[in-house]
Amino acid sequence: MTMHARDANFRQPKPGGQICRHDILDLDIANLSKRFVIFTPSGEMIKELVELGRREIGTVAPAELVERAVTHNPDNLWAVARRSRFDAAKPKAEGFFAFLMLNAEGLRRVGDGTFNGANPDFALLSAQNERPAGIYAWAVCAPRGMTAALPLVMEKISTPLYRKANMYTNAATEEGARFFEAIGLKRGAVIHGHAHPKMFWLDRSGLSDEPAYDTYSVSQPEKRIGISVVRTIDDLMRVFAIRSAVYMAEQHCPYEEEFDGNDFCATHLLGYVGNEPAGCMRIRCFADFAKVERVAIRNEFRNTRLVQRLIRASIAICRAKGYRRLYGQPRSDLLRFYSRFGFRTFDGAKTLRFSDVDYAEVVLDLDRQADALQIGVDPYVLIRPEGHWHKRGILERSAERKLKVAPDKLPL
Ligand SMILES: CC(C)(COP(=O)(O)OP(=O)(O)OC[C@H]1O[C@@H](n2cnc3c(N)ncnc32)[C@H](O)[C@@H]1OP(=O)(O)O)[C@@H](O)C(=O)NCCC(=O)NCCS
Repeated sequence: MTMHARDANFRQPKPGGQICRHDILDLDIANLSKRFVIFTPSGEMIKELVELGRREIGTVAPAELVERAVTHNPDNLWAVARRSRFDAAKPKAEGFFAFLMLNAEGLRRVGDGTFNGANPDFALLSAQNERPAGIYAWAVCAPRGMTAALPLVMEKISTPLYRKANMYTNAATEEGARFFEAIGLKRGAVIHGHAHPKMFWLDRSGLSDEPAYDTYSVSQPEKRIGISVVRTIDDLMRVFAIRSAVYMAEQHCPYEEEFDGNDFCATHLLGYVGNEPAGCMRIRCFADFAKVERVAIRNEFRNTRLVQRLIRASIAICRAKGYRRLYGQPRSDLLRFYSRFGFRTFDGAKTLRFSDVDYAEVVLDLDRQADALQIGVDPYVLIRPEGHWHKRGILERSAERKLKVAPDKLPL
């Protein structure tokens, strides 16, 4: 198979200039999921996809080989379609993205040039649920604007299993090469000491394994952005300091209006740049929706993309808790900005004014997160600190220590 991206509608690089407008590691998933559907094709559909590939690309692997690749690891092939045309009863793909998940030996063979992409040896490929050493992008067939669905595909191969595997690919045409550069891939890969000047690659080794709401580390470099959930009084002081600076000092919001009595029933997120608390926001949970609010970035940290990271983190934490709907009241002049994350006004939405500013009502509908917290998960997970559900907590460690007092000797 060959890599080919038809009608790449990503901004193309200026000659010699800075290119990457659409960093595929920085995704606007909620919004894209409204426009595209992504699914694993099977049987007959694989044959149709191969046919589509033949029409659009010219050279593709035979259907039997693609079927074997999918049986070996279903994550090797992702079909995409426009949601507006999609019929779940008769799913029909409009494009596809094919990968080969390389095991350590497979990556070594790509490095020394002995990997045969046209007829891959399956002993060199990771099976499903095996962490690959690298991901070889096998083929892209994305005609008529389907390249816009790429971030959804990237999300599929950014789960903890795949997250840190670097991606490699070859461009069959100059158009394909421009597409890869436009989405942030670098030309010139070095694999196990072998240089491949024409190969494109995406370095994902430095990506954090943590969810978007738990990326801050006290030892992080000076300019790195990190997000954490507020769990201590100190953290809350940081939030109050930021909000005092932004809302009271800059926007002249009266104290009573800014600190409105809702800060002790909310989950707060803190955004750091290096070790400096630079931004924050809070989330309040209702029965079937969560409200995101009080987004503030300190003046000196504006325009750093911290706000995007905070909002994505708020979406991620709400999804982790099982919420399917977020509600917000952003400043009316920030509606366009919020729409980038998929927020939209709705029938009957009102405008409102408080603290001398105009606001609008918006909602964001979310896909269900398969592993969202719910009754029935490991009970220790539900007693871990907020936002640390992916880490063993102090209470489960406590369950392992020797009892200090026998249960029957505990005072009543
Ligand atoms: C709003 C805020 C959180 C955005 O953070 P930031 O670091 O400035 O973000 P960016 O520079 O990436 O800008 C994000 C968007 O906000 C818009 N924006 C930022 N400041 C703005 C302002 N004063 N007026 C209108 N739009 C503004 C930008 O144009 C951009 O919109 P775009 O993506 O459609 O181009 C930050 O400016 C802030 O803390 N402001 C004061 C507090 C506030 O008003 N919070 C919003 C409550 S809804």
